[in-house]
Amino acid sequence: MKVKIHVRRGAAGRQYYQTYEVEVEDPRITVLDLLIKVREDLDGTLSMRYACRMGVCGACAMVINGVPRLACATKLSDLGTSEIFVGPLPNRNIIKDLVTD
Ligand code: FES
Repeated sequence: MKVKIHVRRGAAGRQYYQTYEVEVEDPRITVLDLLIKVREDLDGTLSMRYACRMGVCGACAMVINGVPRLACATKLSDLGTSEIFVGPLPNRNIIKDLVTD
C-alpha cells in the first residue's frame, strides 16, 4: 500500500510540511519505522529522536494525525488512513523537524 506522510519540518518560526510517498508492504509497521524508512531511503536530512523503540522512554513522542502519541507504539493500521501528518510536540522548543528540547 502507498502511504503519504506529511512531516512538519524546520526550526521554530520557519516550519513547513514536507510530503513523502512511501510504499509499505505491511501496515503493521509503526510510524517510527516509516519515518526511519523515509530517512534511510528518501531524505537523510530528516531529524527525529528515538531510543528504546518499545514505548518506554518517550523519546519518540510527537503529534500524529492531531494526537500526541509515541511513534514507536503507533502502527499504521491503528490510524485507519494512508495519509499521515506528523509534527513535533506543542509547547516545546523545536530544535529541528521532530526533535524538541
Ligand atoms: S523510542 Fe522509546 S518510547 Fe518510542
